[in-house]
Amino acid sequence: MTAPRDGAWYLLEQIPGPLLDWYHRSARVLPWRSHPTPYRVWISEIMLQQTRVEAAKPYYLRFLEALPDVPALAACPEDTLLKLWEGLGYYSRARNLQKAARLVMERHGGELPASFQALRALPGVGDYTAGAIASIAFGLPCPAVDGNVLRVTSRVTASYEDIGGAKIKVQVGDLIRKILPPQPGDFNQALMELGACVCLPNGEPLCGDCPLGDICQAKKLGLQGELPVKAPKKARRVQQLTVLLLRDEKGRLALRRRPAAGLLAGMWEPVNLPGRLTSEEVAAAVAGMGLTPLEVAPLPSGRHVFTHVEWEMTAWAVRAAGAGAGVVWAAPGELEVGYPLPSAFRQAGWWPLEG
Ligand code: ADE
Repeated sequence: MTAPRDGAWYLLEQIPGPLLDWYHRSARVLPWRSHPTPYRVWISEIMLQQTRVEAAKPYYLRFLEALPDVPALAACPEDTLLKLWEGLGYYSRARNLQKAARLVMERHGGELPASFQALRALPGVGDYTAGAIASIAFGLPCPAVDGNVLRVTSRVTASYEDIGGAKIKVQVGDLIRKILPPQPGDFNQALMELGACVCLPNGEPLCGDCPLGDICQAKKLGLQGELPVKAPKKARRVQQLTVLLLRDEKGRLALRRRPAAGLLAGMWEPVNLPGRLTSEEVAAAVAGMGLTPLEVAPLPSGRHVFTHVEWEMTAWAVRAAGAGAGVVWAAPGELEVGYPLPSAFRQAGWWPLEG
């Protein structure tokens, strides 16, 4: 195996000792760390793929209280599951969690398997997550390479390899496998922790606090601002959308379910149309749904950034009479209980619905 570009990768051999000492002194106390069962580690790692530790904590605690184990997750109604995930985004992750829980019930008697390969075979579990569960919950000698780990290792070794590249995670994982100490879970978490708390991105690492300061080539050569190298991503597609917070005479909101596949699959949404519609166009569209428009008032525009697409949303508060076709009407109380509504549609100035 060839080591990534130019870096002094042999230096990684020197990091376990000082890194683990530091971790055992300074690790944050986190709910999933105090009692790292496979299920708890799994849920936390999936949440932490999209959310910072501090932001994830309340979601994690709420999720674990509602669904404390694999059988509960496997049996949970989909809308309840999506409601628990609401605000975290990437709802396919919640669906994959449930698919995986059902497979664990079928194949593994309800217990997550103590094998990297068997974990890796579950929906939504990639190399990183399988490695994290295997090492943290089962003590297996597996690497878990996330963005934090790539940043730390690039800086320590002064590697100019693009950390967005296809092979780098595998290459770094192979190097880490060779230096894993007898506590692989602590070591993997220590690397991530160092990246999250000390070896910060964007040229602002806290090198004075770093246990690897004597080893780190980026610190020695003043390259912290240059490393790691990350090639810019392709620009996101921008889509214009007109969102209607459309209510009937009883104050109920018109909702639709999104298609079962694609972005925000199966989630509920307010009525929306492609493009930037004027109030006249909105009134015509509402009439086209078999409703009588009574009032169309502007709301602040909104914006939501997904991984590959960005929505620029023009929004209108609409009152209309009639039953309409293709929508369900949700009373204000029902909205909070029964209908998982993506954060994209929870823009400032839209809620609560006035009047
Ligand atoms: N980021 C994702 N998982 C983590 C963990 N177990 N510890 C610290 N940071 C993390």
